[in-house]
Amino acid sequence: MRTTAVLLIGICGLLAKAFVGQSDSWGRLPSRSVAPAALWDQFLPKDPVDVPLNASALSNRLQDVIFTVMKKGLPQVDIDLPAGLILGVEGEEPDELEPRALQAKAGDSDKAKAAKKEREVRGDRELAGAFVQFFYEFKNSVNLCVLFRNPGLANLARTAWGDFGKARVVGFPSSKSVQDSADVAKLLRNRPWVLAVAPRARQLRQLQELSEMPDVKMQLILANARVRCRKQGEDLRRDVATASNPVLHVSFMSKDALVFKSIDTPWVMVRRDGTEIWRGDEEPSREVLLDVLKR
Ligand SMILES: *[C@@H]1O[C@H](CO)[C@@H](O)[C@H](O)[C@H]1NC(C)=O
Repeated sequence: MRTTAVLLIGICGLLAKAFVGQSDSWGRLPSRSVAPAALWDQFLPKDPVDVPLNASALSNRLQDVIFTVMKKGLPQVDIDLPAGLILGVEGEEPDELEPRALQAKAGDSDKAKAAKKEREVRGDRELAGAFVQFFYEFKNSVNLCVLFRNPGLANLARTAWGDFGKARVVGFPSSKSVQDSADVAKLLRNRPWVLAVAPRARQLRQLQELSEMPDVKMQLILANARVRCRKQGEDLRRDVATASNPVLHVSFMSKDALVFKSIDTPWVMVRRDGTEIWRGDEEPSREVLLDVLKR
C-alpha cells in the first residue's frame, strides 16, 4: 500500500501553501444556506478573464475552486476538465493542457479503444483524486463519499490512491441488480459530501432525485459529468445543469478553442494563446460555440 506522502505529492503541496492558516475553519461542515449562484453571477467582471492555459495553472485554479466549494458549502456544483487530463495527483508530472481524441471511432482496433477508455478513466480519477487529497488535507475525508460509475472503477481508484484517509470510495451498484434512489442513498449514508465521478445519465437522474428529497442532506459535486455546452434538447443533462453550479468548466471545442467558466467569471471561449473569441453570461449550447468557430 502506498503511503500518504506519495498521495500528497503534486497539487497538494501547492494547496497547503495556498491555504495555510485557513485550516482552522474546517472543524465543521459549512452550512447549506449560502447565497445561490445567481448572486455571484450578478457581479460578472468586464475585465479579461484569466483562463488557465497550461495544466499547472489549471491545477492551481482547481484548488481555489475546491476550497471555495467546501467553504461555501454550495449544495450542487459541477466541474468538467478536458477528457484524459493528468493533473499530477497520482505522482506523475502534469500533462500538457491539450485536446485528446478519446471518442472511440469506427475504425479503431480493440486495443486502441481500450487505450482511449483507459485514458479517459485515468483523467476522471485524477480529478476525483484532487478532491480526495483536499478533503484529506483538511481532515474532512470522513464526510466524503466518492461514487464511481461502477464498483470496478472504484476498486481501481482505491488501488491507485493507496491511502485516501477515511473517504468512502464506492461504485454505483451494477444496473442488473434492482436499483433505485434508495439503494444509492444507502451507499451515501452519513457522508454529506458526495463526489460523483463521470456518472452515466441514469445515475445522474438518481442523484438528482436524491438531492431533491427534503430529508437528504447532500452536497453533490459532479466531476466530469459533461452536462455543459451540449447540443440543444438533451433534456436530462439540461435539467441537471440547471440545478447545478458550474464552478469550473474547461473543455476543447476544437484543437485551438478552449471553453472556460469558473466562479465569478462569465463563459468565454479563447484560443490556445488566450485570445478571447466569445463571451456570454449564459451557458452556450454546442451549436452556438461551433457557430462562433465558423465565423
Ligand atoms: C502556465 O500559465 C501561467 C499563466 O496562466 C504562467 O504564469 C506559467 O508560467 C505557465 N507555466 C508553464 C510551465 O508554462
